[in-house]
Amino acid sequence: MSYQRTLITSALPYANGPVHIGHLAGVYVPADIYARYLRMKGEQVLFVGGSDEHGVPVTIRARKEGITTQQVVDRYHTLIDQSFREFGISFDIYSRTTSKIHHQFAADYFRRLYDTGKFIEQTTEQFYDPETGEFLTDRNIRGECPHCHSAGAYGDQCEKCGRTLSPDELINPYNAVNGNPLTKKATKHWYLPLDQYQSWLEDWILNGHKEWRQNVYGQCKSWLDGGLKPRAVTRDLDWGIPVPVEGAEGKVLYVWFDAPIGYISNTKELCEREPDKYGNWETWWKDPSTRLIHFIGKDNIVFHCIVFPSMLKADGTYILPDNVPANEFLNLEGDKISTSRNWAVWLNEYLQDFPGKQDVLRYVLTANAPETKDNDFTWADFQARNNNELVAIYGNFINRALILTGKYFQNHVPEAGSLTEYDRQTISDIQRSIEELQRLLDVFRFRDAQKEAMNIARIGNKYLADMEPWKLAKTDMSRTATVLNLSLQIAANLEIAFRPFLPFSSAKLRNMLQMDELGWLSLGNMSLLEAGHELGKAELLFEKIEDEVIRGQLDRLARIREENEQQQKAEEAKQWKPSEVKAATDIDTFDKVDIRVATVLNCQRVKKSERLLEFRLDDGMGGRTILSGIAQSYPDPTVLIGKQVLFIANFPPRKMMGKESQGMILSAVDADGQLVVTTVSREVRNGSQVG
Ligand code: 2FM
Ligand code: ZN
Repeated sequence: MSYQRTLITSALPYANGPVHIGHLAGVYVPADIYARYLRMKGEQVLFVGGSDEHGVPVTIRARKEGITTQQVVDRYHTLIDQSFREFGISFDIYSRTTSKIHHQFAADYFRRLYDTGKFIEQTTEQFYDPETGEFLTDRNIRGECPHCHSAGAYGDQCEKCGRTLSPDELINPYNAVNGNPLTKKATKHWYLPLDQYQSWLEDWILNGHKEWRQNVYGQCKSWLDGGLKPRAVTRDLDWGIPVPVEGAEGKVLYVWFDAPIGYISNTKELCEREPDKYGNWETWWKDPSTRLIHFIGKDNIVFHCIVFPSMLKADGTYILPDNVPANEFLNLEGDKISTSRNWAVWLNEYLQDFPGKQDVLRYVLTANAPETKDNDFTWADFQARNNNELVAIYGNFINRALILTGKYFQNHVPEAGSLTEYDRQTISDIQRSIEELQRLLDVFRFRDAQKEAMNIARIGNKYLADMEPWKLAKTDMSRTATVLNLSLQIAANLEIAFRPFLPFSSAKLRNMLQMDELGWLSLGNMSLLEAGHELGKAELLFEKIEDEVIRGQLDRLARIREENEQQQKAEEAKQWKPSEVKAATDIDTFDKVDIRVATVLNCQRVKKSERLLEFRLDDGMGGRTILSGIAQSYPDPTVLIGKQVLFIANFPPRKMMGKESQGMILSAVDADGQLVVTTVSREVRNGSQVG
C-alpha cells in the first residue's frame, strides 16, 4: 500500500428533484460500500458528497413548479440530503454548490486559470430568443429528434431514443419554455483548450491507467481518438457563479466547471470545520500520497476523466484521480429512468412504502449493479432477491443459529469441542469466500463481492442443514455445542462481511449477538464470540415481501406510463403542422372523382387483419361494401354504425384479404396519426354527390 489516505467523491446530484434508485445503484451505494470497507480496515478516508445546485436543470424545475430557483435547490437539497442519511450513505460531508465557500473557491479557481492564460476567448453564434432577449442553453432548446423524429427532444439529448444531440441537429428548434422560434446571435465565452491537453491525457490515461474499467477506458479512448476540442467553461445565464472577470456581466461559470470544484470546496469546508479530525484540505487534494477515487455514472465519464483532470492539470498543484469506477445505467422495468418523465423509484417514496427496508434496496441494487452493462430493476426481481436470498438464506441462517442456541443453551454461546473434518472444511470454504470478498472489494467489483458475502451465509445454512443440531441434541449435547458454536462464529463473521453492504442489518445483528463493532481484520476469526457469552434477543433479520405489495408498485408504474404517453401525444400535437399542400390541379381533374354520401349499416373488423374494417353502406344505389384500413383508429368499430360518411364511388373494385372493396371511405389524419372518418354537417339523402 503506497498511499496513506483515500479521498472518495461521489457525483454531486442536481438538486432538481429527489434522488432515485438509479442514483443509488450507480453512484452512492458503491461509493458508500467502498468508504465503509476502507474505514473498517482502519484506513484514513474522506467521503465527499453534495448537491449540484447550478445549471439549467434546476432553473427548468423552478419554472415548472412556479417557484424561485433558490427555493428549488433548498427544497431538493434538503430532501436529497435526508434520503442519503436515511439510506446510510456515510458521507463525511454533504454540502452544496450554492454555499458561500464554494462560490468563492470556484470563482478563485477560474480567476487563477484566467490570470495565468489557461483559457482562450472566443465569440460564437448561439441560439437566442429575440422576444425574451435570452441565450438558450442546450437543455432549454427543444425540437424534433433528427434520429427517431419524436417531438420535444432536448438540445442535449433525446429522451425517447436516448441519443446525445447538439441543438444544431434539432429539426425546428424552439424555446422549451415559451415555444418561441429561435435565431442565432454572437456571444463571447471562455474556453478550456482541451486540445492542448490531448497528448498529456493520452499518456496519463491510455498508457498509465490500463487498469480502469473497460467502459471507462473505452469511453476515454474514443473521446481521445476523436480529437479533443476547446470547451466553453462559461454560459449566458442568470443562475450560477458570476464569471469573475470584467466585461463578463450576465455570464456565469458553466455548471460542469464549478460542480467538480465542489469536491474540493466541500473538503475545504469540512477540514475548516473539523481540523482536528480531518486535517488540512490541501493534504487531501495536493499530497501525492492521497488516493483520489471518483464514483460516477457513465454520463459523467468525460467530465471526470478528461475535463476535470485538465482543469486540475491547468492549475498544476493538484493530484489526479487514481480510479474512476463509473457504472452504466440502471433501467426501471425495461425503460430508461427519467426525472422529467417521473419514471423512477424515488428514495423518499420507497421509504414511505417500505419503512425500515433500506438494506433490502441496497442489497438488490448491488446484486444488480450496472457495473459492466446497463441493468434492469424490476419489482419481481426485488421481491425474489428479498424472499429467496435475504430471507431464505442469510436471515434463515441467523435465525436458526440464534433460536437453537436459545433453546439448547439458554442463549449463551456454547463451548466448542474438537472440530471434525467437516467443520474444518466448512471453515476453509468460508476463508476462501472471505479472501475473494476482499479481493473483489479492492477492485471495485461490489456486485460479485456481495455474492461472496451471501456465499458465506449459504455455507452456514448448508452446515446447519447437514449437521442437524436439532437431532444431535437428542443424543450428543457436546457435538451440538460445537456445531452451534461454529454457527454463531459464522453469524458474527457475517455481521462483518455484510456491514459495508447492509449497515442497518449488521447493526441489528450486532445487537442480537451482543457483539462489538469489530474491524475488518477480525473477519475470518472463528472465535469472535467467547463461550459463555450471552446473546441478545433473536429477531427476524429480514421479512418476506408479499405479492400484493409488489402489485401496488407495478400499478403505480402503469399509471405513470399511461400519463407519459398522453403527455407525449400532447407534445406532438403542440408541434403538429399541416402537411404541405400538393401540387396544383384543376376542377376537371377533381370532377373525375365521384364522392358521395352513404349511411353505415354495419361496420366490423376483418378477421385476421389488424388494419382493415369492413363497411356495409346504404349508398342509395342498392348498397355496397368498402374495406378501409382504419381499424387501429377505431378499437370499437360499431361506433360508426348509423353515421353518414363520404366515400369515393367510382374507384374500380379491389380485392383485399379475399374480399372485394367497392370504393374508398374518406378519412382525415389527425396530429397523433389517428384516422378520423369524415361526415356531413346535417343528414342528406344517401347517394348525394359531394363537390
Ligand atoms: O450528472 C449529474 O447529475 C451532475 N450533477 C453530476 C456532477 S458531478 C460533479 F462534477 F460534481
Ligand atoms: Zn430520438
